[in-house]
Amino acid sequence: MELDTVINADCIKWLNEQPKGFADLVFADPPFNIGYQYDVYEDKLAYDEYYKWTNKWMKACVRALKDTGTFWIAIGDEYAAEIRMLGRKLGLTLRNWVIWHYTFGQNTKRKFCRSHAHLFYFVRDPKVFTFNENAIRVFSDRQREYRDKRANPAGKLPNDTWSEFVRVCGTFGEREGWHPCQMPETLLLRIIRSCSKAVDTVFDPFSGSGTTLAAAKRLGRHWLGTEMSPNYIQGIRDRLKNTRPIAHCEPFANGQDWPAEHLAELKGVYAEESVATTLLYENRHLLEAFTEHFNRRLAEAGVKGKYESHQVWRQLERLRPKCGELPRVKTHVAEPSGKPRPLDAGLFE
Ligand SMILES: C[S@@+](CC[C@H](N)C(=O)[O-])C[C@H]1O[C@@H](n2cnc3c(N)ncnc32)[C@H](O)[C@@H]1O
Repeated sequence: MELDTVINADCIKWLNEQPKGFADLVFADPPFNIGYQYDVYEDKLAYDEYYKWTNKWMKACVRALKDTGTFWIAIGDEYAAEIRMLGRKLGLTLRNWVIWHYTFGQNTKRKFCRSHAHLFYFVRDPKVFTFNENAIRVFSDRQREYRDKRANPAGKLPNDTWSEFVRVCGTFGEREGWHPCQMPETLLLRIIRSCSKAVDTVFDPFSGSGTTLAAAKRLGRHWLGTEMSPNYIQGIRDRLKNTRPIAHCEPFANGQDWPAEHLAELKGVYAEESVATTLLYENRHLLEAFTEHFNRRLAEAGVKGKYESHQVWRQLERLRPKCGELPRVKTHVAEPSGKPRPLDAGLFE
C-alpha cells in the first residue's frame, strides 16, 4: 500500500477495498450533520440516513485498524451519544471522552454559545495499545502555581478537558482559508504524539484541509488519508508539500535563528503548559522543567540535539505577548507586578 499520500475517494468505498489492519491510528473528524457548507458534501442528512452512514464509516475504519490500533473521533453534541454507542457495538473500548473547549465559540441568538466538541478516544484492545505518556506531560498545579518542591519535575498528564487549543478562526495565520472547519494542528500533535510511535501509520478518512496528515508528517509518522472533494485534495497536497518534519533540523546554537518547526513547537508547549513568561522568568526550576518538557517533545519527534534553558528563555523573551506572537495563556496566580525579577541574576548574561 502506498503511504504518505492523500486519495481522492469516498472513504467507505476506498477503505473496504484495502487490506485489513493497515493503520495504527485513525483520527476521524466527519461532517457533524449541522448544515456546514462543504465543497461537494451535503451536510444535512435525515437522522436515520446519517446514523446508518456513521455506522458504515466507523465499521470501515475499525476494519482498517491493527489489533493494537487506536481510533479517535471528533463530533458535536447532536451525535455524541450515537458515536459512543456505535463504538461499543463495534467492540471498541473507550479510554477517554475528551471535551475540547475552544475559545471563539460559535455565536448563538437564543441559547448559550457553543464552545466545545467531543473527542472520543477508543482502542481495539483494552490491554495492548500505544500511549506515550512522557511525550505529552504538562506542568502540575504544584509546579506552576504552588512552587512546591515535592512536585514531580516531569509534570502530569493533561486533563480530559482541553482548553489550550484555540479554534482556527477566519483571521488566524494558521488558517488555510479554503476549508470551512480546519482543526488546530497542535491538538492533532497531542493525539498523534501520545497514541502512535515513530514508524506508525496515521489514517484520516475525512482529511478536509489536511490537518491530521500535516501533524503526522511533522512528527515523522507515515500519513495517509481520503477526502472526497478534488479541490480540497489539491489544497492538502500543497499544504503537505510545505510541511516539514520537526526532526528536519537540529537545534541551532544561535537562539535567534531557530528553525520554524522548532519555534512552532515552542509556542505549542508554551500554550499547553499554560505558564506566563513572567513566571518562568521568576522561577528558574520552572524554566528548567519547561525546557526539559520541550526537549522531550523534540526528541520524541526524532530530533537528536537539545536546547539549553537560556536559549529557550531568549526565544520566549523575543516572542513575548506584547509582540502578539506567543499564545495568550491563563495563569491562576496573580502576575508579579513591576519589573520581573530573575531569581538567579547573571544566569542569562
Ligand atoms: C469536518 S471536515 C474535516 C476537517 C479536518 N479535520 C481538518 O482539520 O481540516 C470533513 C471533511 O470530510 C469530507 N467528506 C465527507 N464525506 C466524505 C467521504 N464519504 N469520504 C471522504 N471524505 C468525505 C468533506 O469533504 C470534509 O472536507
